[in-house]
Amino acid sequence: MPATAVIDAVLDRSLVLGYTRIGPALRRRWWPADPAPGSMRGRRVVVTGATSGIGEAISVSLAELGATVHLLGRSADKVTRYAERLRQAVPGADVVEEVCDIGDLDAVRAWCADLLERVDVLHGLVHNAGAMPPERSETPQGHEIALAAHVLGPHLITELLLPALGAATTSGGSSVVFMASGGMYGAGLRGTEDEIEFRDGTYDGVQAYARTKRMQVVLADAWARRLRGGGVRVESMHPGWVATPGVTESLPRFSKVMGPLLRDARGGADTAVWLVATRPESSGSHHFWHDRALRPTTFGWQRDQDAGTVERFLAYVSTATGTSASW
Ligand SMILES: NC(=O)c1ccc[n+]([C@@H]2O[C@H](COP(=O)([O-])OP(=O)(O)OC[C@H]3O[C@@H](n4cnc5c(N)ncnc54)[C@H](OP(=O)(O)O)[C@@H]3O)[C@@H](O)[C@H]2O)c1
Repeated sequence: MPATAVIDAVLDRSLVLGYTRIGPALRRRWWPADPAPGSMRGRRVVVTGATSGIGEAISVSLAELGATVHLLGRSADKVTRYAERLRQAVPGADVVEEVCDIGDLDAVRAWCADLLERVDVLHGLVHNAGAMPPERSETPQGHEIALAAHVLGPHLITELLLPALGAATTSGGSSVVFMASGGMYGAGLRGTEDEIEFRDGTYDGVQAYARTKRMQVVLADAWARRLRGGGVRVESMHPGWVATPGVTESLPRFSKVMGPLLRDARGGADTAVWLVATRPESSGSHHFWHDRALRPTTFGWQRDQDAGTVERFLAYVSTATGTSASW
């Protein structure tokens, strides 16, 4: 194993060194090349949660590379404001404003149908939107909110936009990226409906966040398996620890203690932009990235979730979203 791979793995396992701004400061000496300038020209990408932190930074970087960026948020005012900020940051940027609450499955269906009327080909879909609701609450369809925003909504969007993502095959292919979290290492997958929906009366915001982020990683691997060999690649990733409005609001103590060491939003956005712009090969069974390298989905002392739990989880996602159950 090359020395850089060993150092990289040590950074990763130490958490603090790998996840903070120290990680990319060291890794950029050996990580793969940046996307070429202009490499996203003529390509179209949807970024969810683009009205804050990492999502805004992903949108700016993709626009700088020449992409048409569909900036999606749930507040129309905020979307307009962030689209304007992007146009100022990247003069000449091609930005399209999209409004949808991705946790509301009816809104997702309506928005996807509308987008497909306007767009034939999509080269990238970044499922970046995320939240850490402190109390359990439900969407109009009766799903717990973190589950709906991190898992059910992104799954339904992926399924409904597949025709446009598949149509990119003749123009370099497309990439779907799920923005998970390193927090998922602390959570296992659960397979019963009550556990998946957090109906067992023990809701905890941080745990629900971590568990739904674990679900994203499992879901992305399942999508990658389903679409293997075609023109649509599906990956998941984590951004490290990043200074964003979301972190300041949801984890104020962590934000204060780690403050100077946190990455800036661009540092958190880097791997998502690199994945969409360069479409690296990942042929194994896991597709979980951080700092431009594949990472384990469990640490040594943990076990991968068993096949039966994965099967029950995927079956629930299909049923809850009314989508294909052929995994
Ligand atoms: N920052 C970190 O250290 C860190 C670490 C690990 C993973 N992540 C992940 O990275 C992603 C971005 O995080 P961030 O730190 O940039 O968070 P943030 O500052 O809170 O931004 C989250 C974005 O998601 C949007 N959003 C939330 N729920 C939505 C919904 N139902 N429909 C549409 N948009 C919705 C928010 O819109 P509003 O502005 O309208 O609320 C906002 O634009 C998240 O998935 C997060 O889990 C972040």
